[in-house]
This record gives sequence, structure tokens and C-alpha cells, in this order.
Amino acid sequence: MPSSRAIRYNPPMHYALRPADPRDLSTVLAWIHSPADLRFWGGPLLTWPPDEVKTWREICADDNNTFALVDPAGSLAGFGQTFPRPPDGVHLGRIILSPAVRGQGLGRILVRALVDSALERFHPAAITLNVYRDNLPAVQLYCSLGFTVSAEDPDHNSYSMRLSVPAL
Ligand SMILES: CC(C)(COP(=O)(O)OP(=O)(O)OC[C@H]1O[C@@H](n2cnc3c(N)ncnc32)[C@H](O)[C@@H]1OP(=O)(O)O)[C@@H](O)C(=O)NCCC(=O)NCCS
Repeated sequence: MPSSRAIRYNPPMHYALRPADPRDLSTVLAWIHSPADLRFWGGPLLTWPPDEVKTWREICADDNNTFALVDPAGSLAGFGQTFPRPPDGVHLGRIILSPAVRGQGLGRILVRALVDSALERFHPAAITLNVYRDNLPAVQLYCSLGFTVSAEDPDHNSYSMRLSVPAL
């Protein structure tokens, strides 16, 4: 069942979301050490080994859909994408945090910032994402933000998850 939980998004002011560029992706790729890491982050279609130019193309990145979460010093802490899905949805993808800052609650800040940005720009009725069932930190993160499982794909061992946006 889709969540009807009302959520207010108040990311701390000291982290900022800005459009990402291929140099940010290059940093992200240094956090990815194996085909399994690549699959968890980017899904089954990305090809190994990743590289800045090829992977930027494979994730359909541009400066309208791809974002960097930066700390007060401007260092990259996280990365993610927002894709409008007609008629009234936005799909999140390629969410990742720097390994140096995992386990501190920043995942929630990153996803909330992406959701907030999507709400502001597209006024969607729902936010969706896909996640592998065995990616437990990611599944737990999304559940903690109110996403619920809307479908399961046994062939890819993945969940589709959905967050309903309450009317403002
Ligand atoms: C997914 C990701 C962004 C989460 O980062 P994070 O917020 O630092 O993650 P945490 O370590 O705080 O874990 C998130 C939650 O999962 C829980 N968790 C962590 N490992 C777990 C495990 N093995 N089993 C069950 N729960 C687990 C944590 O306790 C936490 O829950 P809580 O906040 O209720 O305590 C990060 O792990 C990441 O970048 N992973 C690599 C890329 C990726 O897989 N992206 C997801 C694409 S869909």
C-alpha cells in the first residue's frame, strides 16, 4: 500500500544540493569497487568497468536531472538523480553517499533533498524508486522516509517503492 504519511522535508542548511557535473561522477565512481557495487547503485544496465564519460551517458545524466550533495567545504558527500515520470510522478535514481559519511543519517538528508527538489520543480503526486531487495541499508533508508513497496520484481530481485505526496 502506498504511504499516506505526511512528511516535511527540512534538510540541514549546511548541506546543499547542486547540479552535478562529470567530475562529480568521477568522484562517485571511485566509491564503486566491483560490478556488484555498480549494480546496487545503478541497476542492471550499467556496464563494467564504469568510466566518467561512458557512465555519464549510460545514466542519462544532465544538469537538470543529476545532483550533488555537498558539505560546507564544497566536498562531494552524495549524488542522485530525479526523472519526471508522466503523468504526475518523479523517479529517483543512482542514490549514493560517500563511504566516508555512511552510517550517520546523511542518507536521509540526501533523499529528502532530492525529494524536496522534485516537489519544488515538478509538483508530483508520487515519488518512486527501485531498489534491490538485498540492499538492506537502502531499503531501510527508504522505509524510514515513508516509502512503501508498490511492486516486486522477482526476476531482478528488486522492489519498486513509492512515496505518496500529500496535498499541500
Ligand atoms: C544506501 C545508502 C545511501 C544509505 O546510506 P546511509 O544513510 O549512510 O546508511 P546507514 O548505514 O545509515 O543505513 C541506513 C539504515 O539502514 C540500516 N542498516 C544498515 N545496514 C543494515 C543491514 N545490514 N541490515 C539491516 N539494516 C541495515 C541502518 O541501521 C539505518 O537504519 P536506521 O537509520 O533506522 O538506523 C548508502 O548505503 C550507499 O551509498 N550505498 C551504496 C549505493 C547504493 O546502494 N545506493 C542505493 C541505490 S537504490
